[in-house]
Amino acid sequence: MATEQKSPPVQSAQPNDFARGLAGVVAGRTAISSLDGDLRYRGYPIHALAAGGDFEEVAFLLLHGELPSQAEHAAFSEGVRASAGSLIATPNPAMATDGASMPAVIAALRGLADICPTASPMDALRTGVSMLGQVELDQIPGTREALLAQAQRLIGQVPALLGAWMDLSAGRSVDPWPDGSIAKALLQRLTGRTPSATHVAAFGTTLVLYAEHEFNASTFAARTVVSTGSDMHSGITAAIGALKGPLHGGANEQVLEQLCAIGSADRAEAWVTEQLAAKRVIMGFGHRVYKDGDVRAKLLGKMCREMVRGTAAEGLEDLADRVEQIMLDRKGLKPNLDWPAARIYHALGLPVRVFTPIFVVARMSGWTAHIIEQIGDNRLIRPMSIYCGSPARDYCDLAHRG
Ligand SMILES: CC(C)(COP(=O)(O)OP(=O)(O)OC[C@H]1O[C@@H](n2cnc3c(N)ncnc32)[C@H](O)[C@@H]1OP(=O)(O)O)[C@@H](O)C(=O)NCCC(=O)NCCS
Repeated sequence: MATEQKSPPVQSAQPNDFARGLAGVVAGRTAISSLDGDLRYRGYPIHALAAGGDFEEVAFLLLHGELPSQAEHAAFSEGVRASAGSLIATPNPAMATDGASMPAVIAALRGLADICPTASPMDALRTGVSMLGQVELDQIPGTREALLAQAQRLIGQVPALLGAWMDLSAGRSVDPWPDGSIAKALLQRLTGRTPSATHVAAFGTTLVLYAEHEFNASTFAARTVVSTGSDMHSGITAAIGALKGPLHGGANEQVLEQLCAIGSADRAEAWVTEQLAAKRVIMGFGHRVYKDGDVRAKLLGKMCREMVRGTAAEGLEDLADRVEQIMLDRKGLKPNLDWPAARIYHALGLPVRVFTPIFVVARMSGWTAHIIEQIGDNRLIRPMSIYCGSPARDYCDLAHRG
């Protein structure tokens, strides 16, 4: 008689053999950016890319792996602009390359704004991207060329969605997308003013610095989603949800709220003491990977101080300096990128509730590059856990449970 075939034992982890929050775990390979010593995108040092503040150049680099030639830069920028411009019906047929998808999504967001005008712009973006995936009939798995085209389209559509939501939630009709780079056009859309060249450059630098950061929580969420064979829009929708949290992208909004709550430099000491005593984290400080300070915060902090010198925003810098010193003395913690980014956005006249959505606009480039990389060399992302619940017990059916 044949012996009963036993199924192979499940793969098991050793008790306590895990890293809380996956800290220090290497979860894969990437050719998109490295944090080894210095932050580099595709091998180029972040300080050189940030100085240019050219978001389109960096988005192309992240997606294609090489810096664009002048012709490639012009074509990519025009493609992104056309996608943003297709947001509302336009008399210019050259702008209507994406068919009717964006106007349909705007109509749906208008309905959302009617019933819930106070919805957070992060939720509106997450919903908008999800709807775009449906309207555009996102195909899985796309070819690399199709994925690159889809990424370029999303990089233009998302800032336009943000501008549209700010109009719709304020009860206004949707303004057309302005001319110029993403940095210039988005700044104009969100402030309602034509920005100066200095402001566009500073804003562009923040987009470059926010564009990509290896296996952070939102990027990892996007990679996990597409590792199942799912589509790009689903990955981006998950990433936006992950970025919203205050321990990740949501921190930049809370940084400004904290600074406003403190009010002035002479109140900083008492405020920090109170927060630490209550075991609350101070937003804009600490980082999972950078334990000796975030290279991006150093770059942007310097730029922020120069930009606001002699303006009304200078007082906030004195307060920020004081908090920085106290945090270093008390906790040995240094600022992360959200610390100066929040102050720059405030100095640029941007409302707090668009700070994290701007991070989304920038990170679209990194997310889409990672999604394409994951799909190009995929294996399902599926870690394991250590069970810590009730010991094994016998089931008792409902009729006998009283
Ligand atoms: C980013 C962050 C989530 C990293 O978390 P992490 O890697 O798990 O941090 P660690 O556990 O290594 O922190 C070490 C210690 O510093 C403390 N710490 C870290 N960041 C802190 C902060 N911003 N304020 C106060 N204490 C902080 C932790 O509580 C911990 O203290 P303990 O050893 O007494 O428990 C964390 O620093 C944080 O919450 N920062 C504020 C939110 C923020 O700015 N997020 C944007 C990140 S780019």
